[in-house]
Amino acid sequence: MKKDLALALRKKSLWTSFMFVLALALVPFAVSQTSAGPAPDETTVSRRVDSLLKEMTIDEKIGQLSQLFDFAKSKNIDDAVSSGHVGSLLFVTDPAEVNRLQHLAVEHTRLHIPLLFGFDVIHGFRTIFPVPIAMAASWDPAAVTQAQTIAAKEARSVGIDWAFAPMLDIARDPRWGRIVEGSGEDPYLGSAMAAAQVRGFQGDFIGAPDHILACMKHFAGYGAAVGGRDYDEAYLPETLLYNVYLAPFHAAVKAGIGSAMSAYLDLNDVPATGNRWLLHDVLRDQWKFTGFVVSDANSVKSLEKHGFAKDVDEAGLAAFNAGVNMEMAIGFTAFSKSLPAAVQRGEITGQQIDDAVRPILEMKIRLGLFDHPYVDVDRSRQILSTPEHRTAERLTAERTAVLLRNEGHLLPLNKSAYKKIAVIGPLADSQIDTIGSWAFQEDLPETVTVLAGLRNKLGSQAELSYAPGVQIRRTFPSFFDAIFHLKAAPVWTPEQAKDEMSKAVTLARSSDLTILVLGEAQNMSGEAASRESLDLPGREEQLLESVAATGKPAVLVLMNGRPLNIKWGAQHVPAILEAWYPGTQGGSAVANLLFGDAIPGGKLPVTWPRDVGQLPIYYAHNTTQSPENQGKRYWDEESTPLYPFGYGLSYSTFSFSNLKLDRAEIKPGETIHVSIDVDNTGSSSADEVAQLYIHQRYGSTSRPVRELKGFERITLASHEKKTVHFSLGNDELTYWSTAKKDWVEEPAAFDIWVGGNSKAELHSTFVIAK
Ligand code: NOJ
Repeated sequence: MKKDLALALRKKSLWTSFMFVLALALVPFAVSQTSAGPAPDETTVSRRVDSLLKEMTIDEKIGQLSQLFDFAKSKNIDDAVSSGHVGSLLFVTDPAEVNRLQHLAVEHTRLHIPLLFGFDVIHGFRTIFPVPIAMAASWDPAAVTQAQTIAAKEARSVGIDWAFAPMLDIARDPRWGRIVEGSGEDPYLGSAMAAAQVRGFQGDFIGAPDHILACMKHFAGYGAAVGGRDYDEAYLPETLLYNVYLAPFHAAVKAGIGSAMSAYLDLNDVPATGNRWLLHDVLRDQWKFTGFVVSDANSVKSLEKHGFAKDVDEAGLAAFNAGVNMEMAIGFTAFSKSLPAAVQRGEITGQQIDDAVRPILEMKIRLGLFDHPYVDVDRSRQILSTPEHRTAERLTAERTAVLLRNEGHLLPLNKSAYKKIAVIGPLADSQIDTIGSWAFQEDLPETVTVLAGLRNKLGSQAELSYAPGVQIRRTFPSFFDAIFHLKAAPVWTPEQAKDEMSKAVTLARSSDLTILVLGEAQNMSGEAASRESLDLPGREEQLLESVAATGKPAVLVLMNGRPLNIKWGAQHVPAILEAWYPGTQGGSAVANLLFGDAIPGGKLPVTWPRDVGQLPIYYAHNTTQSPENQGKRYWDEESTPLYPFGYGLSYSTFSFSNLKLDRAEIKPGETIHVSIDVDNTGSSSADEVAQLYIHQRYGSTSRPVRELKGFERITLASHEKKTVHFSLGNDELTYWSTAKKDWVEEPAAFDIWVGGNSKAELHSTFVIAK
């Protein structure tokens, strides 16, 4: 410690002077962050960090470990930046403001260390893509990579260097509102989506032009919050952690992610933000993660509230010692209070502080911030309004929709068959609800609602009338509504409510077809948006049933972030299309899908329960006592879901045949090659997702009845047949055995199924011999 303080007091070294001159020299030219060159080699980066660390005082180093929210320009933030007491800001999205703050950091601090700007770029920045659960429903990693590439480019253009995404929490309880932010229930699909997003955000290397740093969150176990109640604790045994909840995070680390965010929850009684086993033993020791960990907002100070630390000082130390590098906070960080004194007392060494700062400085260097700290405001304007981005969004939304029901081939609709069409429902013409939660920088006026999409498509070909029918709202307001000053529409009086309902039903009765757009308002899913019921909110169910009772053909379009209770609709409404929150061009995508200009090919990334009482429900459960009755575990309801994981219909039909394994037996470490023929037996070109599931029949622990271990989304012309290839090797066949306390690939017999959902019937077997 003494050595460090002494160093800090030393005069500017040659390196510092060089940096200063360089910074000044570069200022006039260092405009665009996108002009970063190829990836700098590791030695250059680490030498640069070494030189900086030699020059930095303890205070300057601790400044780099602090990140503050900046919702509105404030003198406190300016002071903290100019004095080097903060190394990163979040929620600054105006490029001119980014430049102003960056000038303060680069020109006013002794060592000219630039700020790192972070933001929740979750499913787009200006162009808002479908919500993450929808992206997972595409079963198309390439589409996901493309969406996050566009998000990264838009964000980077305004000076955001770092996205707090991807969100990799496995969620098996749709009461949890944040299920919308992730890729659903499955570790294999979740891992594929994790890697795809890392590629999209970061590009080929950290610092690639027009890309940003990604941050996997929330590490870890957050999706298992008891009762689906956001922020509540989770209890997860090792077998679930390693085999399920941690898997997507490990995939992101393998894909080269540069940062991680610790979760809010208590995991097995140890808060994630103070959990050294998670942040150090697993992340760094086992997985060799070399990036940095940021806490979730205020989660360091919250360690006091968790009863894990005596006070804020102790909270700062606990998080630091657990492995948090950077603290995200509102107002002030616990790190800034506790770490300087802890260093003085000798409780924390200068080396520990250096180890914490190093990966943060490395990322700033890799991102090119020292060389190109500012953004080109004019260029950002052009990038944010690119028509290609909007088109890519529409095409993505078309790929994410899931067709749940289509009795009598009601869909696709024939444009000339319906002269009068009723569009009904509170979400049909709501722009904010079309984009979903976790979008803050969208261009709302250009967001296309379902009603607008239908109007654009049909023009004067049909008479289109709209009635909301009901109003829906949260019982308790969302804190996001307060932060972003979102005003709810005035509440209808009981008379108005009655009137609106009957207007809608009358409209349906006098029309040839009704398109109902129901589900949840955007603030009903997301953070702090858990529900104890999965019913359609408010009086939507009554509206649905009354409209269906008119006997006119009806299509239900769902907009929501979680499976809902649509038990009645699934029996009585002929066509149901799950559109999720489809984003900026969502309404155009839905119109294309309904009228057959696009064909649904998405599949459910979550098991769809019949009702809330079945939760949690997921396909990869174990086979247990009297398995033949596993679907009858309740006497008052089936214990099978309404729709299985991986399910989704098409306007075409497909058949799977010729399941072949190149060998019936392998040794541990060897690979089996599997092939299957997929045939489009329908009359239109369409997509199918070939899905491969396995079951290990016995072993040192019980294994799930089925586990997804391969998938591929393919497009087939009418009557076209393609052979899809999969391989099953060590990665797919190894699991964490609680009995062995290790990763094992065990000699055993296996089942294998391939088909279009998790109920696939085409079956074979193979053996792993000793
Ligand atoms: C809290 C949320 O849990 C996290 O997902 C988000 O990235 C941060 N706030 C920053 O907004």
